[in-house]
Amino acid sequence: MEAEIRALKVRKNAVVMAHNYQPLEIQAFADVVGDSLELAVKAKETGADLIVVCGVRFMAETAKILNPNRKVVIPVEDAGCPLADFLTPDLIREAKERYPDAAVVVYVNSTAESKALADITCTSANAVQVVRSLPNDTILFGPDANLAAYVQRELPEKTIVPVPPGGHCYVHTGFTLADVEAAKKKGGMIVCHPECLPEVQEQADMIASTGGMVRGAAGGDEPWSVFTEREMVSRLRVLYPGRVFYEKPEAVCADMKKISPADLRQALEREEHEVVLPREVMDRARRAIERMIAVGA
Ligand code: 13P
Ligand code: SF4
Repeated sequence: MEAEIRALKVRKNAVVMAHNYQPLEIQAFADVVGDSLELAVKAKETGADLIVVCGVRFMAETAKILNPNRKVVIPVEDAGCPLADFLTPDLIREAKERYPDAAVVVYVNSTAESKALADITCTSANAVQVVRSLPNDTILFGPDANLAAYVQRELPEKTIVPVPPGGHCYVHTGFTLADVEAAKKKGGMIVCHPECLPEVQEQADMIASTGGMVRGAAGGDEPWSVFTEREMVSRLRVLYPGRVFYEKPEAVCADMKKISPADLRQALEREEHEVVLPREVMDRARRAIERMIAVGA
């Protein structure tokens, strides 16, 4: 299997991109492993004929939007992100009617149709910088209400309106104050993703995207309790052997676990489950994503 996948990658001039939450056996085949921003930036730079995105649909859509003339496939068609489904184009249009002077910031965990209505997108790595870069006082921000609350705390001079009010990721809202207490007993630092609940974020020693966690762990040697999807800890252990990381075994994103090495091989071989989006949607979404990339991390 391993040899076949590697040979197919060469034969097809393919690049394999994997999110930090992908199983390690998938990450092992990836040319790029990273957070949503890193995957978007690398997708923009690739010269490959075929892009295979091992992650969830919005990540594959982002790669396609940035590469409209390349073939982008996702090995398992129904690997989605329940958080992305909270935001619809109608919700954005309604919010814009209520706040005509507001800017629309759409988290990359969203559909291409929602991105097409955004002034700019953001990821968890750059949400604060993106909002700070805008002249508007009021920001419509969706779909993650907890990331919106994080940005509001960092930028009290802005009014952040979450669209919809309760958008959330079930994996991250699964972390509670009981987990905080348990982590404090173990000692070391609590490192938390900004999709966690505000009361949990307030107890954290560091709040970061998954890529920020990879970079942040390079300094220091304290134990970390990692409040995000548990595969993040598998990756941190590979990168920093000997260092102590604690995960929450129940923190599993079911959609991130759908892709197996057999699916990856099939995706490379048959090029099935191609991401196809209307040209106009892609053109408008691309403007919002490129504006974000220009702001940086
Ligand atoms: P990152 O961009 O931090 O990797 O987050 C993506 C995600 O889906 C978090 O659940
Ligand atoms: Fe979506 Fe949450 Fe899974 Fe991330 S962890 S892909 S936000 S459901």
